[in-house]
Amino acid sequence: MSADGKIAGTEHTQVRISSDEDLIRVRGLRKRYDAILVGVGTVLADDPHLTAKGTSQERNPVRIVLDTNGRTPDGARVLDDQASTVIITGTGCTRTWGNRALVIRCGTDSIDLPRALDILAHDYGIRNVLVEGGGTVIASFFRYKLVDKYSVFIGGLVIGGRTAPTPADGEGWVQPGGVELELTSTENYGNGVVLTFIPKY
Ligand SMILES: NC(=O)c1ccc[n+]([C@@H]2O[C@H](COP(=O)([O-])OP(=O)(O)OC[C@H]3O[C@@H](n4cnc5c(N)ncnc54)[C@H](OP(=O)(O)O)[C@@H]3O)[C@@H](O)[C@H]2O)c1
Repeated sequence: MSADGKIAGTEHTQVRISSDEDLIRVRGLRKRYDAILVGVGTVLADDPHLTAKGTSQERNPVRIVLDTNGRTPDGARVLDDQASTVIITGTGCTRTWGNRALVIRCGTDSIDLPRALDILAHDYGIRNVLVEGGGTVIASFFRYKLVDKYSVFIGGLVIGGRTAPTPADGEGWVQPGGVELELTSTENYGNGVVLTFIPKY
């Protein structure tokens, strides 16, 4: 996020926040996880590849999109052949993406996160997930107490705008006072810093 706590511009315009050093860190981080997960809002706004670039295909983690109503466009980069893709839709959705994505159906109005993670672990051997965003999805993971570690790069940039997304958006906190975090490390990466916290649920 930027130094004023935004993860994109107003109207969800993409803004580069990471320093070069942080981009290298993120690629390395992705390689350490079985899967990278985003919400369909991020796919529609940023059209990311979600790969650990520079590695061979078999080392790229599985890409997962939470997409209740099947809004991921056919031409989305997340469907390219650089890594396997899983799209999790609601049970009422009938959309498929051919052989470009495995579809799991789970939840009604939104994806049932605890159940989805159980299915991913038990049926597909996905034991750990790097949740990259956006703010709505990250807030949901906190809401269900599914965050084991929260790591945020704060870059030397001010974006501004009261409607610009932040790392934990969504409907607002269900827990009065928020979720308390314990700071476990601070590291410099070029013109920014990475803070790592463990939630105290
Ligand atoms: N700076 C960064 O590192 C970074 C990283 C990622 C994203 N971003 C920014 O974040 C913005 C997108 O964030 P966003 O909040 O709009 O979208 P998001 O969090 O990527 O996706 C939210 C959508 O996911 C779907 N979803 C399904 N089940 C869900 C569940 N259980 N919990 C939460 N969401 C669920 C919902 O759409 P359906 O109801 O249609 O299923 C929901 O609207 C973009 O502006 C992007 O640039 C920034």
